Amino acid sequence: MKKIIITIDGPAASGKERIAKYISKKWKLNHLDSGILYRRLALIFLNNNVDTNNINQIKKKIKQIHEISFRNSKQIRTQNISKLASKIAIHNNVRRFINKLQYDFVKKNKKKQGFVIDGRDIGSIVFKNADLKLYIEVKAEIRAKRRYKQLIDSGEKSIYPKILKDIKLRDRQDKLRKNSPLVIPKGAQIIDNNDSFKNTIRQISELLENF
Ligand code: C5P
Repeated sequence: MKKIIITIDGPAASGKERIAKYISKKWKLNHLDSGILYRRLALIFLNNNVDTNNINQIKKKIKQIHEISFRNSKQIRTQNISKLASKIAIHNNVRRFINKLQYDFVKKNKKKQGFVIDGRDIGSIVFKNADLKLYIEVKAEIRAKRRYKQLIDSGEKSIYPKILKDIKLRDRQDKLRKNSPLVIPKGAQIIDNNDSFKNTIRQISELLENF
């Protein structure tokens, strides 16, 4: 039986992860958060003192990596790793390496009836022929406000203007890069996540029920 693939793209802190988790639970699909892979690679570069301004050092390190963890953790959710992940994501070598990890994941995980995969280039590049493509839209100010609340609620120090500035910087980097920039994929359904999660889920449920 053919496995279905649902892609979710959208800017930083747009709620892709929460939406993907909801869909994977409700429709029993494997979830792959491709951002984790960029973050994991950024952490490896950081821990191994790789100069991320030097493409030769990046290429050399990638060749030495045999495995990358797909696990989320607090360690890869810092502002520093967010910025570094976005910085290294401009390189074609990095993107090719991470795309292969995603193709292998889909090949190996056959148990469930399909996949929900989120990121920046999933519907536009990595899984162009996906069965359903979603693009999440939320204003930068609302994304920053939600991220700020999340950090404060988890007991971390946080400054709203700095979060907004970082989100805008990541948006610029993700949208303006030459390789696989963040775009609305061809044929994608736009999901408005500016309002409540309930409202977002209603839009998604309508789409999936008619699918
Ligand atoms: O989604 P998340 O914020 O965890 O992603 C971290 C960074 O990794 C993004 O800012 C983006 O630059 C990069 N990324 C990407 N393509 C993806 C997923 C993430 O370029 N498919």
